[in-house]
Amino acid sequence: MSRLLVTGGAGYIGAHTVVALVEAGFREIVIVDDLRRSDHRMLDGIETITGLRPILETVDVTDESALSDAFASHGPIDAVIHFAAYKSVRESVLEPVKYEANNVGGTACLLKAMRASGCSRMVFSSSCTVYGNPSALPVDEDTPIGVAQSPYGASKQRCEQLIRATADVGELSAAMSLRYFNAAGAHPSAHIGELPHGVPDFLVPFITQTAAGWREQLQVFGNDYNTPDGTAVRDYVHVDDLADAHVAAVAHLLDGRAGGFDAINLASGRGTTVLEAIAAFERATGVGVPYACAPRRTGDAEAIWARAERSGELLGWRTRRSLDEIMASAWAWQQSLPYPD
Ligand code: WQD
Repeated sequence: MSRLLVTGGAGYIGAHTVVALVEAGFREIVIVDDLRRSDHRMLDGIETITGLRPILETVDVTDESALSDAFASHGPIDAVIHFAAYKSVRESVLEPVKYEANNVGGTACLLKAMRASGCSRMVFSSSCTVYGNPSALPVDEDTPIGVAQSPYGASKQRCEQLIRATADVGELSAAMSLRYFNAAGAHPSAHIGELPHGVPDFLVPFITQTAAGWREQLQVFGNDYNTPDGTAVRDYVHVDDLADAHVAAVAHLLDGRAGGFDAINLASGRGTTVLEAIAAFERATGVGVPYACAPRRTGDAEAIWARAERSGELLGWRTRRSLDEIMASAWAWQQSLPYPD
């Protein structure tokens, strides 16, 4: 069985992917995670769900020598899944250098360590943010890479360029960039889920924290958009569907048919407004969410959702879980969390 190294494997999408990998039969998994923005709880959750505790190397991906040591002590590694990155759009605007250094610098270090150890297959955790503010909807993989709307978005674009260029010169034999739309939800066991640090930026954790009474009221940012109910449209994807896509992508790279660089959208193909998302939560859980309409949030796109065909053609993947399942699982996870100090 192949041996995988997963950077950011104790993070939100990373931990769900590790569970899906173990369940698909990948039992030799090395997680590289500095635990600065993730938590031992996620490793405990992985173990509770799968019965297996993956090896953890508490290493920062920008630490080139520690990263190389991790490859050397656990090699040979057949493929890498690279999640480790900062992901707050708001923070990236305030601290652009930090995003460049961690996200782009970390990817560069990882590519060097992979080259040194002879590992040449990579799945990269990318984002719909690479499309910027698309002029036509729905987005597909032929949609041009747009002007980045934030340093975070720019960092994902630059990582993709770097990985593509590395594949073009043959240093990576196969690489696949998975561009997620809005990830949400949690594992149905509620043993792993999203752990926002401080006040959440993202909609679904804000909904669940408001429903739980941690926040007084949800602000709906903008109700004057040109959309069916005036609120912004997004394409929400269950984190376990994303996890399944990573399993399919890694299997695709390992079976030797893939070569060079590919990029795929991971989306449901369905646009959902903010008010529809709140309604789905209330329907799925029976719990009300106090909300009020507020001005638009700076930098928000009016609407973005994607055609979801390429992932089906290449990986046989499509979303299987509904918006209501996203909300019900996010709520179960929320209820398992202790009230923050
Ligand atoms: C969704 C909608 C908000 C909070 C982000 C990143 C993007 C990609 C996906 C990773 C928007 C509205 C939110 C709130 C609200 N990430 N909202 N009240 O901004 O679409 O996308 O995740 O790569 O790069 O930017 O996600 O969950 O923040 O917002 O009304 O308290 O919910 O305005 O319309 P976003 P989000």
